[in-house]
Amino acid sequence: MYRYDEFDERFVRERVAQFRDQVARRLDGSITEDEFKPLRLKNGVYLQLHAYMLRIAIPYGTLSSKQLRQLALIGERYDRGYGHFTTRQNLQFNWPKLRDVPEILDLLADVEMHCIQTSGNCIRNVTADHFAGVAQDEIEDPRPTAELIRQWSSLHPEFDYLPRKFKIAVTGAEHDRAVIKAHDIGLRLRRHPDTHEVSYEVSVGGGLGRTPMIGKVVRDYLPKDDLLAFLEAIMRVYNLEGRRDNKYKARVKILVHEIGVEEFRRRVEEEFARLDGPSVNADPAEVARIAAYFKAPDYEALPAISRVLEATKAANPAFARWVEVNTIPHKAPGYAALTISLKPVGEAPGDATSDQMRLVADLAEQYSQAEIRVTHAQNLVLPYVRQRDLFAIWQRLGEAGLASANIGLITDIISCPGLDYCALATARSIPIAQAIQHRFADDNRQKAIGELNIKISGCINACGHHHVGHIGILGLEKRGIESYQITLGGDATENAAIGEILGPGLAAEDVPDAIERIVNVYLSERAEGESFIENVRRIGLAPFKAAFQEVAHAVA
Ligand code: HEM
Ligand code: SF4
Repeated sequence: MYRYDEFDERFVRERVAQFRDQVARRLDGSITEDEFKPLRLKNGVYLQLHAYMLRIAIPYGTLSSKQLRQLALIGERYDRGYGHFTTRQNLQFNWPKLRDVPEILDLLADVEMHCIQTSGNCIRNVTADHFAGVAQDEIEDPRPTAELIRQWSSLHPEFDYLPRKFKIAVTGAEHDRAVIKAHDIGLRLRRHPDTHEVSYEVSVGGGLGRTPMIGKVVRDYLPKDDLLAFLEAIMRVYNLEGRRDNKYKARVKILVHEIGVEEFRRRVEEEFARLDGPSVNADPAEVARIAAYFKAPDYEALPAISRVLEATKAANPAFARWVEVNTIPHKAPGYAALTISLKPVGEAPGDATSDQMRLVADLAEQYSQAEIRVTHAQNLVLPYVRQRDLFAIWQRLGEAGLASANIGLITDIISCPGLDYCALATARSIPIAQAIQHRFADDNRQKAIGELNIKISGCINACGHHHVGHIGILGLEKRGIESYQITLGGDATENAAIGEILGPGLAAEDVPDAIERIVNVYLSERAEGESFIENVRRIGLAPFKAAFQEVAHAVA
């Protein structure tokens, strides 16, 4: 993992001291909430329905055991004993008291963490594939790139007051697990077919919210050395030409849409040509220094398939199912990358109690090089587990309610906080997720349905990624009543697509029925081995629409 140097350490401490003073002035009334707002937003503090909310950056979703334990401590001491992992690999505390925030920031600084640039119109936390460094389909580890961008974008003086927030995601694998096409900039490490050189495919203008867009490619093969100069060119075009007159049209996706991708590309290339690349790009020695932090651990030489694992699987079908659903094959023989589900049926998706965080930290220390990853689907990953240790891990997770075998299945739902916490919400989302989980709780039924991603947002801002859910659910409000709009056919991977609306909005209590009918169409129509999303693509929306219309009580 990356380690802070002296500069980082001193800088973060100075920021905490500065914010402590700002909080003191807010608490004694010498500044108003309006005056305080831009200051708190520079430090990840939002004002929500019931309380302040603190968003903590987890760079590219990588945490050490020590950091996770500190988050557990903060949750216990200053929140209500839990934290909420988000779709951008961050952690949110929903109940901190303002007077405690400087203390929390100090505790975070103790473990090289902070909340800088987790809100406001700046470049936000850079996200990456949660299986970075371990996935078999990986061409190159995306974390050195993400760390380089983190350093370049942190307090970049030119890009601190952009027209709107700006999100960057990086993947180094063929299969996109980082939703790069729904980001303002998406980077994919790929090999040039002729030169075989690893370079970046650069997409710009993806984003969800009220105007969802899939990112468009502006460079097919950008040489790695040119990365920062090219990013700088994109940011400069956006910063100068993005719309500041209308908040809803201020994201780069609108600029790309309004002037067209060709014209956007032309302006970026023009700016890039004007820039003195070598003075902007990182020094190769610095790039190598960063990359060294991410070198693979010393793996043990193990047989590709562990006999111990096979024997325990044979003796225990529930364990076998969990291994099949929650682990992926690993680069290193005899190892597995394990996803721990934070979606036990009936709990708020993405929540972890302080005790659960501590357990995961302990397990990571004992079995996974003391490293944890956070996924955009709001789960946790132990990236370096020996196959033979899986059974012991499963048993301990089971005792803490964390052994759900549902990764990628219908109950592994992404959901935003919705009306339970969020001041912008128009409807509840967590209770809808829970109702669907209860309906499909049976493990065998879930497994029979196979991969199916449901994503729920409590308003048009789309924090729950509903547009790119295989089934998306958007909570709206119509004449004081919650109304849920269902979309179908969205996809968050390399085949990124925005889902299409199936019909009129539904009452909350009808949502599980509607989902069940949609699933039943799939089960009766699917070809051998065909997944839900493949089936939707092949047969089209019509049969699903017909089944959907049979659901009663549409909120007209
Ligand atoms: C509870 C406080 C929150 C507030 C006030 C908030 C606010 C917003 C707003 C206003 C947007 C729309 C931005 C735009 O289109 O320009 C947005 C988008 C988004 N937020 Fe949140 N959000 C909150 C929580 C969350 C949580 C908990 C997550 C993760 C689970 C999240 C992740 C996202 C994502 C992924 C998007 C859409 C992607 C995009 O930026 O295009 N947010 N949020
Ligand atoms: S989608 Fe809306 S309700 Fe949900 S967290 Fe975002 S802003 Fe709040």
